[in-house]
Amino acid sequence: MAKMIDGKLVSKKITEWVAREVKDMTDAGHRKPFLGVILIGDNPASKIYVGRKETACREVGFDTTTIRFDEDVPEDEVIQQIREFNNNPNVDGILVQLPLPEHMDFLRVFNELSPHKDIDGLTPHSQGLLALNRAHHIPCTPKGIIKLIKAIDFEMKGVHAAVVGRSALVGSPIAKLLTHHHATVTTVHSRTKNPWEFTSTADLLVVAAGVPKLVDEKWVKKDAVVIDVGIHRVDDKICGDVDFDRVKEKASWITPVPGGVGPMTIAALLTNCFNAYKTHVS
Ligand SMILES: NC(=O)c1ccc[n+]([C@@H]2O[C@H](COP(=O)([O-])OP(=O)(O)OC[C@H]3O[C@@H](n4cnc5c(N)ncnc54)[C@H](OP(=O)(O)O)[C@@H]3O)[C@@H](O)[C@H]2O)c1
Repeated sequence: MAKMIDGKLVSKKITEWVAREVKDMTDAGHRKPFLGVILIGDNPASKIYVGRKETACREVGFDTTTIRFDEDVPEDEVIQQIREFNNNPNVDGILVQLPLPEHMDFLRVFNELSPHKDIDGLTPHSQGLLALNRAHHIPCTPKGIIKLIKAIDFEMKGVHAAVVGRSALVGSPIAKLLTHHHATVTTVHSRTKNPWEFTSTADLLVVAAGVPKLVDEKWVKKDAVVIDVGIHRVDDKICGDVDFDRVKEKASWITPVPGGVGPMTIAALLTNCFNAYKTHVS
């Protein structure tokens, strides 16, 4: 039976550290860190995520503001807001909540973000630096995943790691990060034939497919470490991309959903924003 990787516990330690650091800085006379958020449209999940991020910011002593736009806002208005945040010396981090509306060009919008304030690590500039292992800000979910793997003292060097998914938000950056940590990485995606033939030899399996309970025990090597990034509501219950009840019998460690990767994403956002703040105030 697999042991649980407790993302709530690990993230709590990180957020408590951030809160202490913020207090030390403000006690020393510095302003608070500031996160500027842009939320476009009415996507219910995006609203929930942004609400959680605002709450987390306040809990550690950050100031934050969310600029809300209607779904049909012209791209130029959003870009204007990004430029205002870029030029405001009191804004440390900028978060543009994904997904963008269909009429917007991701590259054009994200290219506007100052790389130093791109605390989500998603601009083409940031992604290029990540590929070179020189990132200023590592994308939050992949950064949180690496922290979870380190929290259980799992040695990434030399192991076979498999990643299910190749999105710019999760799959692609976590595959790069695992390579930088000297794992040998296989990526499978929706066009991979028999993906379980690749994943079932992996010592470490990261699943970010966006398909509820896609991964069952057939995909998993005995005693593998399994990280489930997915989050879904099915029949009024929350589940991940991994069929938890079946895989927990085979894995050595597994993340629960909820309470695994989700809280780590927020903890990583706070640390990235705090790191940007430190470079701005010191
Ligand atoms: N907990 C958190 O903090 C957090 C953060 C971000 C995302 N998420 C969740 O994580 C999941 C993935 O997010 P995402 O943004 O990476 O999703 P995404 O952009 O939809 O990407 C999904 C990836 O999975 C691949 N895929 C889909 N079906 C597959 C299958 N049957 N077999 C193998 N690969 C398959 C897709 O392949 P193709 O490239 O071929 O289409 C794609 O690369 C979602 O459930 C999302 O809600 C959670």
